[in-house]
Amino acid sequence: MKITFDTKSAKSDALVLFVTDGGGLLETGKKTDKKTKSALKRAIKAEKFQGKKAQSLVVSGPAGTSHDVIVLMGVGKQRELTLKCFEKIGSALCGVLNAHKAATAEVIFETGSTFKDFSEAEAASRMATGLVLNSYRFDKYLTRQAKDKKPTLRAAAFKVAEPAPARKIFADEQKVAGGVFLTRDLVSEPPNVLYPESFADIIRKELTPLGIEVKVLHAKDIQKMGMGALMAVGQGSAREPKLVSMEYKGGDKKQKPVAFVGKGVTFDTGGISLKPGPGMEEMKWDMGGAGVVTGLMKALAARQARVNAVGVVALAENMPSGTACRPGDIVTSLSGQTVEILNTDAEGRLILCDALWYTQEKFHPTHIVDLATLTGAVIIALGHEYAGLFSNDDDFADTLIKSSRNIGEELWHMPLNDAWDKALDSPAADVKNIAGSREAGSATAAHFLKRFIKSGVKWAHLDIAGVAWTNKDRTSAPKGATGFGVRLLDDYVRGIETE
Ligand code: BES
Ligand code: MN
Ligand code: ZN
Repeated sequence: MKITFDTKSAKSDALVLFVTDGGGLLETGKKTDKKTKSALKRAIKAEKFQGKKAQSLVVSGPAGTSHDVIVLMGVGKQRELTLKCFEKIGSALCGVLNAHKAATAEVIFETGSTFKDFSEAEAASRMATGLVLNSYRFDKYLTRQAKDKKPTLRAAAFKVAEPAPARKIFADEQKVAGGVFLTRDLVSEPPNVLYPESFADIIRKELTPLGIEVKVLHAKDIQKMGMGALMAVGQGSAREPKLVSMEYKGGDKKQKPVAFVGKGVTFDTGGISLKPGPGMEEMKWDMGGAGVVTGLMKALAARQARVNAVGVVALAENMPSGTACRPGDIVTSLSGQTVEILNTDAEGRLILCDALWYTQEKFHPTHIVDLATLTGAVIIALGHEYAGLFSNDDDFADTLIKSSRNIGEELWHMPLNDAWDKALDSPAADVKNIAGSREAGSATAAHFLKRFIKSGVKWAHLDIAGVAWTNKDRTSAPKGATGFGVRLLDDYVRGIETE
């Protein structure tokens, strides 16, 4: 998608005009209405168009202009507009323009208002971001797709009063969108194509050119180093597990990094504790956390964030086989703690415990955020509207929640409790990988991870099982992989960048 900002009008298939609450036209709208012999006002009246936020009305083939369609885009009450509203409007606009087969559009960015919390440039840029994010398609395997089913929109030109700041802000947002798209691609790929080795290859290919140091540990390294938990999960598969680190140095040399750790189970059958058949195909996106870490690292490096950040992903395929780990196995994790595996389907925490320990030993981060499609229980608790947030530091959690609200990728702060930690004690090993009851299932999973966080390290765990994938179109995320977490954590990083 080509996005431009200018003060001049551009030739285009579609002209986009804002309409305020109650159906009011703004300056250019009024002029265009005159030119079209009042086609706009008549359409607004005929359709009783209220101009509510992100509602639209399309006037096709109007006389008196060169445009094929005029899109009247509702913005609602001006004083209620936020940046998130502009994103929603841009996202909705993408759908409308494609539905009307427009290839090019000019957006007259005229709101008839000034805003106290943000500039016109920020608003226009955020609208463009919504449009770009909603234009994503994963259709590489649709070889027989009818031409008229393909999205038509190629370019949107925003007419703004001050193009320079809008261009500058959008340049960064576009790079972040590039990260989101990489995450979506990874999460969408089928599990025969995306497995630990091919995932590691993509990371190397995508991130090395951006100046990120990518290091891949293979099964023999993982084994030799003592990551018995990651090894146990990967050992049932013909595809060997990998651990990949991505080091980005954009901050002060002496500054300790912030770390992002992702669960990358490229397919989760459950292992010997096999999952039921129906819906098992969904477990191709059990690498969603690792996908977000990869997309985030791409975004940070592409926009040259002034921060030291490291991404670590643990990649494995959880399969049942003659070499698979069994319920009852006791393995030794990299931390030295022994783990009794009582359910091979609670594999995410096993691969993460080694990835978390490795990250702390190797990179000494001050803060760690891990992301994982960790539990079905978080979907029972929060549905698909929030990711669960667990943390050992309330201030850190609050900071992340602020970012989540800025971006619209919502987090809900969930509790930790010593009783749930105790439930993980095993008579046979230092810890067991399930609590043994279904109560507070997301929290017991979080407590398992917490046992592998060193004291003094600020840690947050995002259980993204409910939000990594969507079965309905959402703001800035068409059906499918959402990329939830990339923009949220990019926003968090903006807050800690050095001057
Ligand atoms: N990958 C799943 C969690 C999951 C389930 C994600 C549904 C998305 C949708 C995870 O590995 C898992 O199987 N968790 C078990 C844990 C249980 C065995 C303690 C679960 O949630 O049932
Ligand atoms: Mn599982
Ligand atoms: Zn899983």
